[in-house]
Amino acid sequence: LLGLLRRRKRRGGEPPLINGWIPYIGKALEFGRDAHGFLEDHKRRHGDIFTVQMAGKYMTFIMDPLLFPNIIKHGRQLDFHEFSNKVAPPTFGYPPTNSRKFPRLQEQIGRSFQLLQGENLTPLTESMMGNLMLLFRQDHLREGAGPEGGWRSSSMYEFCISVMFEATLLTMYGRPVSAQRHSGMGVLREDFVRFDSMFPLLMAQIPISLLRQTKAIREKLINYFLPHRMSCWSHTSQFIQRRSEVFEQYDALRDVDKAAHHFAILWASVGNTIPACFWSMYYLVSHPEALEKVRQEIHEALRLSGVEFSTDKDVALSREQLDKLLYLESAINESLRLSSASMNIRVVQEDFSLRLNAERSVKVRKGDFIALYPQSMHMDPEIYENPQTFQLDRYIQDGKEKTDFYKDGQRLKYYLMPFGSGSSMCPGRYFAINEIKQFLCLMLLYFDLQLEAGQKRATLDSSRAGMGILLPAEEVRFCYRLRTD
Ligand code: HEM
Repeated sequence: LLGLLRRRKRRGGEPPLINGWIPYIGKALEFGRDAHGFLEDHKRRHGDIFTVQMAGKYMTFIMDPLLFPNIIKHGRQLDFHEFSNKVAPPTFGYPPTNSRKFPRLQEQIGRSFQLLQGENLTPLTESMMGNLMLLFRQDHLREGAGPEGGWRSSSMYEFCISVMFEATLLTMYGRPVSAQRHSGMGVLREDFVRFDSMFPLLMAQIPISLLRQTKAIREKLINYFLPHRMSCWSHTSQFIQRRSEVFEQYDALRDVDKAAHHFAILWASVGNTIPACFWSMYYLVSHPEALEKVRQEIHEALRLSGVEFSTDKDVALSREQLDKLLYLESAINESLRLSSASMNIRVVQEDFSLRLNAERSVKVRKGDFIALYPQSMHMDPEIYENPQTFQLDRYIQDGKEKTDFYKDGQRLKYYLMPFGSGSSMCPGRYFAINEIKQFLCLMLLYFDLQLEAGQKRATLDSSRAGMGILLPAEEVRFCYRLRTD
């Protein structure tokens, strides 16, 4: 108890220290209420590097993005896996991968991530296109799916989750040998949403047994991926197949442990992608000129490939075609900029002097966290003019992707970081961008879209600040109608 009550004192060469007046809890509650506002306020008062005590942890925030490169490249003394090994296993229910019981498991899992990238992205992208088209055809484009020639009304987040959850699941894990789709998808999705709503508490290391139904829901979700069930699925992605083969090499992994690993990947593959889809769709639908510009760009890409599009036919956009959609990509990046609030955490491996640039170093202590909070950079008016505004061509310059952004007159190496950085960079980032593009292409090609009148501007729900793409604070109603051109 004394240890919990003892307050740390700042030593020479260390950043300013903010303990907070509540022992142990420190500033955790204030940070949880409004992380971005909290950090901006402390930056004004203490400068661009400061250490905050939160829930017994000391976190040193580096707020100046010009200093990010030196933090990101510090591999040995600043470790990412120590943090993820601590939080991911109890959250998803598998045993720690770095345990001696599983020699080289972590390394093999790391290698499996290559199957999401490079040439492996092509079959994944093709499979996702087919699955999205299947769901659109069966659920939204079918005759009688809505009033004849008329508008249908829906909730936007609900729409995104119903399409993207199932399409991603089919693409990653495959489908039953004898059917095009899995049964019980609605229940699985609802359980997932209930688990997901507890995600911030699990990441805060609140024991799952204290979170009412969550443990039982997680068990149900994990059981969906038991090896004897997955062995009846076909068209499984190379990525998931490879992971199953790796798990088979370890007798010490029980079937439920293997299933829990698969469940964790399901979360990783949809937990951020669905809100990212929502925001990209929301910003386009609420900016009709931007939406029209992107729609023209997609039609143009199809025309250039000799495809004559009509709404009564299926369409497939290849990886190369998706790569050329500059405005669509800028719209997605701009939506990620406006909605992402991930935190990049590294654990200090030894007491040392952390060099920040040619002139500056700070002393840091073993076990402390170093944190980058890119949302502060994404919302910096010096880097992004009118940062709160959606600007379709924010990431376009002279007909190409714009990559030069400046702070204090210096070019930034890192200016958009929804996918993390360095050793903890998201391995699914290329697939994620492609699948969001595919979803939006289908929405824009097949439907007229508009917001229902009389709604307030959508706002961010900050309860998962630090953990990825934020959800909308409330649902948005929209209408869609099959296009006639
Ligand atoms: C890790 C963001 C989509 C697979 C991460 C991290 C971020 C992130 C920020 C690093 C977490 C950390 O530093 O603690 C996103 C966003 C996505 C997205 C914004 C969508 C817009 C995906 C998809 C997949 C995926 C589609 C898989 C198909 C993973 C995995 C990790 C990860 C496996 C853990 C990597 C590791 O342990 O080293 N993601 N992600 N992500 N992401 Fe994503």
